[in-house]
Amino acid sequence: MTAPHPTSSSGRALPVAFIWRRVHSLMGLWLVIFLCEHLFVNAQAALWLGDDGKGFVNLVNLLQAIPALQVVEIVLIGTPILVHTIWGIQRVYEAKTNTWRSDGSKPSLPGYAHNQAFTWQRITSWILILGIFVHVLQMRFIDYPKKAFLNNQELAMVRISSDEGLHSLAARLNVSLFSAVQIADLQKETALFSDEKSAWFRQLTSFSLKHDQLVAVAPDRGTAMLLTVRDTFKSPVMEIFYSLFLLAALFHAFNGFWTFLLTWGLILSIASQKAFQKLGLFGMVVLSILGLSAIWITFWINLRH
Ligand code: HEM
Repeated sequence: MTAPHPTSSSGRALPVAFIWRRVHSLMGLWLVIFLCEHLFVNAQAALWLGDDGKGFVNLVNLLQAIPALQVVEIVLIGTPILVHTIWGIQRVYEAKTNTWRSDGSKPSLPGYAHNQAFTWQRITSWILILGIFVHVLQMRFIDYPKKAFLNNQELAMVRISSDEGLHSLAARLNVSLFSAVQIADLQKETALFSDEKSAWFRQLTSFSLKHDQLVAVAPDRGTAMLLTVRDTFKSPVMEIFYSLFLLAALFHAFNGFWTFLLTWGLILSIASQKAFQKLGLFGMVVLSILGLSAIWITFWINLRH
């Protein structure tokens, strides 16, 4: 027996495409909330100059303490992104954009802001797919801190590149730095290591290091992630890549928030549509400032030394 279709108030079955459209929309709203939280946390690495990113470290440690974090990440972040993306790709292919030049065989109305927004919602979808893939691969897998225990304390290890200001910052953050040469020197003493220190050392040697790279052993994941963020934004290529990704995400999120309100019939009058357009623009500007601060200020201004 097949499950009955959900029904509308008129008693007729709701089309599957309608339900998907609503799920896509709700997931979009959820992702906007998540994006705001994410950018607020990241901005703490850069703002409050001179506090060595304490706000970022504390907030990341708070999030890392969530029980069954991996399940929470899959349910609350991974699944909504996946569902929104799968249905979104279908919508992108179905879309008939009308802001391109035309030989007359198709409508071309580039002068209308809403037509442009419709097209850009789709262009930014592709940027987001690429950006989210690279970002998750880097931050959640390649550069994710490795756990290790020493003297009954949990530590977090990450690979970063060396620079002039790193050593003084590491001393303030209570972080130990190990070069390939220092690790090779420690190798000679392994016979004297306790079981716990041997496990810690195995973790230390699991990183493959280039000549300018170090392993940072931090007292907690928040500090380790702060060093990863600082390391990432040392590179102008990464700064430009993340800036474009950020601006695309914010346009998509805030234009999307406005279309979400339309989709659910929450802004029916012209006055309310205009008011929420202004609010969306304001949100976009505020979050751009937060996001661009994390990208451009973390290394170059706040944590250089
Ligand atoms: C940071 C991640 C993302 C956020 C915050 C986000 C947010 C949103 C929001 C709020 C909407 C409006 C929903 C509505 O009109 O009811 C939307 C629409 C849309 N999203 Fe996303 N989205 C994200 C990622 C993606 C990705 C990766 C794709 C890939 C295909 C995508 C494709 C779309 C499409 C095509 C629409 C337009 C749907 C329509 O107008 O019918 N989104 N998004």
